[in-house]
Amino acid sequence: MNKIGVVFDLDGVIVDTAKYHFLVWKNLANTLNIEFTEAHNELLKGVSRVRSLEILLNIGNVTLPEDTKQDILIKKNEDYLEYIKEMNADEILPGVNKLLNELDNKNIEYVLGSASKNAPLILKQVGLLHRFKAIVDGNSVSKAKPDPEVFLIGAEKLNLKPECCIVFEDAIAGIEAANAANMMSVGVGDEETLSEANFNFNNLTEIPTHFFDEIISE
Ligand code: BG6
Ligand code: MG
Repeated sequence: MNKIGVVFDLDGVIVDTAKYHFLVWKNLANTLNIEFTEAHNELLKGVSRVRSLEILLNIGNVTLPEDTKQDILIKKNEDYLEYIKEMNADEILPGVNKLLNELDNKNIEYVLGSASKNAPLILKQVGLLHRFKAIVDGNSVSKAKPDPEVFLIGAEKLNLKPECCIVFEDAIAGIEAANAANMMSVGVGDEETLSEANFNFNNLTEIPTHFFDEIISE
């Protein structure tokens, strides 16, 4: 393979915002009397805010009128932003800076492919916004992961065919989206949870030095 590019998910791959999403959903679940576990939370990872609420309500078998759902979604984001506005570069996940430097050195371009509508703000907070060739996020897609749309737009931004793109993801929905896009999928996190990925690592510090060279030489 001559030229490759990378599409990074944001939450749980670049920054540890997955924990803030969980805290806020957990709190909202409590107010709705819905039991919400870490296992349930895996189903919310990678999917849009609107879809997350649908999944949460399904878990609790709760039906709510449309305007109440809208109010909950607004509150979800307000509470989440309270955490985000306190973020700084310390919350960049281990191995990220080294990996981005390595990609820069190898002239491998990378874009962001996230479901989050807060992606530019979060990247700005941690000082990484300028490093990505393009940002594809929840504001630029009409279909959320596991639909491949976000990653296919990412490939266009990289001027590469999908099969030349490598996706780094921490969510089941994200791995499904990458596979559906015909890209190489790298699961970051629990190998059992992300068993559909082509490659698995616990975190980005585990990526071997020759990982990209080997893919290029294939
Ligand atoms: C994804 C997260 O990256 O973004 C999901 O994994 C989240 O948990 C989704 O629901 C949407 O994020 P936001 O910031 O637009 O609410
Ligand atoms: Mg994620």
